[in-house]
Formats: sequence, structure tokens, C-alpha cells
Amino acid sequence: MIQLHDLKFTPFISEAEINDAIEKVAAKINEDFEGKTPVFLGVLNGAFLFASEVIKRFKGDCEVNFVKLSSYQGTETSGEVNSLMGLTQPLEGRHVVVIEDIVDTGNTLESLNSILEAEKVKEFKIATLFYKPEAYKKSLHIDYVGMEIPNDFIVGYGLDYDGLGRNLTQVYKLKESKMTNIVLFGPPGAGKGTQATILKDTYNLKHISTGDVFRYNIKNETELGLMAKSYMDQGQLVPDEVTIDMLKAEVRQAKGGKGFIFDGFPRTVAQAEALEELLHNEGTSVSAMIALEVEDDLLVERLLERGKTSGRPDDANEEVIRKRIKVYYEETAILKQFYLKQNKYFGVNGVGSISEITQRLKDVIDNL
Ligand code: IMP
Ligand code: MG
Repeated sequence: MIQLHDLKFTPFISEAEINDAIEKVAAKINEDFEGKTPVFLGVLNGAFLFASEVIKRFKGDCEVNFVKLSSYQGTETSGEVNSLMGLTQPLEGRHVVVIEDIVDTGNTLESLNSILEAEKVKEFKIATLFYKPEAYKKSLHIDYVGMEIPNDFIVGYGLDYDGLGRNLTQVYKLKESKMTNIVLFGPPGAGKGTQATILKDTYNLKHISTGDVFRYNIKNETELGLMAKSYMDQGQLVPDEVTIDMLKAEVRQAKGGKGFIFDGFPRTVAQAEALEELLHNEGTSVSAMIALEVEDDLLVERLLERGKTSGRPDDANEEVIRKRIKVYYEETAILKQFYLKQNKYFGVNGVGSISEITQRLKDVIDNL
């Protein structure tokens, strides 16, 4: 592990893997540009190492030039691309090979594309050492890709974090912060609310209950709240996007905390995927889905008992209760599979005293 400024990074791509990627790209460029005297146009700063390796391997005549563009600050792309050092030679009628260290959103490529179109080059191809398909938002074709990588922030081999790390001969990726993010499930009457409150205090987590988030946004008439209400008023389900955007805001607010307990979310695979992406962007992930398990007859008994004192009409009728339990299992079956596949599903026996059940949950969480 290495540390650059405030962040820690772990080894990710070895020198040998980088070398294979370079050889692959260089061989294709040699094939395509044989006898053509291309101009290699490196994009500074990041591409200096990759450019020199590719150019060294080019067998014919070529010219070399650089431009300097910048779109990143820290570990976040600003979206805006600045030209810090423009073209210093006319490229009209030339064969150009753009050499990039990494293509992320594609913003940099897009602005290069317009520069080269204005130059009236004869043709240009794009070579990049690393490519993040999940982050790429443009349609411009990338001709030579050394290696596709997941949407992680990396450093080394030309790439930096706030100026540092470019000289590293292998690539490292940002170490995930150790947060505990629990997706808590349980059929109605399983004691989820009680346990969530206890766990939240024990582990210093933020409890995000979709129901509460909805009520808060609607009560305070936030833009998202009003949107959600417009669907609910028509008796329609609130679309995933709206729910996800509300959660995003909640997660951002607690950035840097110890973690979250998600309660009532995700409900669909699309939401589970959105949650993964959302947490990923904060440098963390779902640690576990924990489901409280209680057999149906006991749930019915508990809820009927609760109905006598709470006055909740949906707790008073056995048929309604059984229906709610059935809906719960229908909804969660697919999510159980989703987390099982990642070895993140844990079923916990929800029958016993409150403290016994808490202890079982702690046994799972402490071993994550
Ligand atoms: P794009 O414009 O979003 O495609 O980003 C391209 C530029 O962002 C690259 O040339 C890098 O300077 C920077 N960048 C993107 N991803 C990373 C990364 O994982 N580590 C370091 N810099 C990156
Ligand atoms: Mg770059």
C-alpha cells in the first residue's frame, strides 16, 4: 500500500500487464501507419510515459508533438476541459495518432476531437493505455485500447493524484474507505425498526429509512419531494430515479461517516445497482444485506398483538397481514439472489429477545 497526500492506494496493475498492453497497442499502430509518417500527439501530463513507449516502438518515420489539457481536480473530474498548452504545429493533411493515458468520461477526447477537426487533419486515431467503459459518456470511437479498467480512481504510470504518483512504474487504485453499509431486511413484524435503531447507535451509523426520507422531502416540499408526491397522489409508484436521487442527497450529507443502515431500500435490482454505483462514487460499497428471519405464523401473531395497541388498521386483519408478508418475500427474493451472488447475504434468526437478536446481528457485522 502507498499513501499520496491524504489518500491510500493499493497495487492494481503490474508492470508486466502494462507492458503487454503497450506491446499490443504499438503492434496495431505499426500495422495501420506503415509508410505514413504519422504525427504522434501526446496529451500531457499523464500520457508522457505511455507516449514514449509507443513512439519508441514505432518502426517508420514519425513526428512527435504534445498538447496539454486538464479536466481533473483531485479525484473528481470537473467536466470542463481547459487547454493549457495548445498545438504548436499545423496538422492539416496529416495522419495523427492521439496518445492518451486514460479515457474516463471522454470530455478530454471530445475537446481534442474538435481541435483536430478544425485543423483539417487527414485522419486521426485515438490510442489510450487505460479506458473506463463504465465512465465513458461519449460516442467517439477509441481505436486502440491498452486495457479496459473498472471505474476506479487510479494512479501511477503517468497518472497522478494532485500532482503525485506519476513516476510509479505500476498502477495503484484508491483504497476503499472502511465503512459499514448494511442493507437491513425483514418482513413486517420482524423487529427491523427496533434493531436498526440499536445498530445505528452501536456502530455510529446513519439510519436511512426510505419512508422517512420520503416523508421529509414531501413535508419540506423539496423539488424531489414534490415530484414524488405527484406520483403518489395519482396512486402510482414513485420511479426509481426519484427515490435514488433522494438517497443520493442523504448519502452525500453523511460523507466520511462510519456508514449507513439502509431500511426499505433497495426494493428492486435496478435500485440495488444504483446503490452500488452511488456508494462506489463515495469510495465505498454495500458491506452486507442482513435479513431478519421469522416464520409467518409468529409474524402474524406479533402484528395482531401490535394492532391491538397501535391502532394501525393494516395490523388488525390477519388476511391483510399475510398479504403484506407475501409481498415482502416476492419483492426480496430477487434481491436476496443479487447479494448472495456477491457473498453479501446474511440471514439472521429474528426469534428471541431483542438483545439476543441484536447479538446475532453484531456477530455478523463484526465479522464483515
Ligand atoms: P476524461 O476527460 O474524463 O476522459 O478524463 C481524462 C483525464 O482525466 C485523464 O487524462 C486524466 O488526466 C484524468 N483521469 C481520469 N481518470 C483518472 C484516474 O483514475 N486517475 C488519475 N487521473 C485520471
Ligand atoms: Mg490526460
